[in-house]
Amino acid sequence: MTAPLRAADASVVNVALGARSYDIIIGRGRLGSLGEKIAALRPGAKAAIVSDEIVARHHLAATEAALAAAGIGTTAVTVPAGESSKSFAMLERVCEALIAARIERADVVVALGGGVIGDLAGLAAALVRRGLDYVQVPTTLLAQVDSSVGGKTAIDSTHGKNLIGAFHQPVLVLADTALLDTLPERQFRAGYAEVVKYGLLGDPGFFAWLEANWRELFAGGAAREHAIAVSCRMKAAIVARDEREHGERALLNLGHTFGHALEAAAGFSDRLLHGEAIALGMTLAFAFSAKLGLLPRSEAERVERHLAAVGLPIHLSSVRGGPPDADRLMELIAQDKKVKRGRLTFILARAVGASFVAPDVDAAEVRAFLVEKLAER
Ligand code: GLY
Repeated sequence: MTAPLRAADASVVNVALGARSYDIIIGRGRLGSLGEKIAALRPGAKAAIVSDEIVARHHLAATEAALAAAGIGTTAVTVPAGESSKSFAMLERVCEALIAARIERADVVVALGGGVIGDLAGLAAALVRRGLDYVQVPTTLLAQVDSSVGGKTAIDSTHGKNLIGAFHQPVLVLADTALLDTLPERQFRAGYAEVVKYGLLGDPGFFAWLEANWRELFAGGAAREHAIAVSCRMKAAIVARDEREHGERALLNLGHTFGHALEAAAGFSDRLLHGEAIALGMTLAFAFSAKLGLLPRSEAERVERHLAAVGLPIHLSSVRGGPPDADRLMELIAQDKKVKRGRLTFILARAVGASFVAPDVDAAEVRAFLVEKLAER
């Protein structure tokens, strides 16, 4: 397993990207230090804080206060909550608001929210004035361990999720774990799927630690910070080695090919949250790997047991309103970015902690597997 973190190094993880390197600061109550961190990075900057209506209600005042304490003037840009804000219309609105607020190259955009806000504000920052600096202040577990780190920004196309975007690295990620206290339990649990992903893709010791400690992680405190820091460390290391996803970074898509298709079929709605789709997608990826003879069925069952124990969905029948049929799923899978010249790329596994990129998967085998899974109850 990744070496246990000492309290002293739990709080800062560096993403080593040369001149574009940045820190991820993790800890309870860190939001109060946001202003001083931004002032140190970009002296004299003003800031636009992009958030959604729910996040703004909980955390905007504290964020504005943290920035004001360091003498940073702010403008708030607030959009409706939910995946539907990852649209051209909302991107236009945010870009125009940044320009109207005279946010310039020496200023910063603060993305205060979950994955939707980070993706939307990050893309607006990439576009306005050909690139503004931005800071991620993730307010969901999913965003703290995954989407706020690594510089992927995007909106959705009618053809699928995240199909219009840019790589644009933030200059700082500040993950205040106390912000997760206001998160609905379903959202927290969904974000936990992305934590499990790190164990499954490359750290069997971390997965075993999660099996033993998930209750403490859900309760908050040191186990939560430890898990977030371990996840960020692993993501930072992968991004540093493969920023543009030419190879290894694709491992972070474990569960996402099946997951994105399920999410799209559920209309990107609360019928199936992103993390729930990823839990189902990881279950399917391990079961499919077992079916292909790549790993023992008992390993796939171990993954299912853990996800089910925390209350995440592991059966296609648990998609609210019912799952799509195999043909619709295959159609959605084919739209995914992980298709190269008609061949399907999946992240498969040889063991817990040993995932790999399989670039040439036979679509007929995937379809037959889905038909089998859809027949299960
Ligand atoms: N969420 C996958 C990645 O950042 O590459």
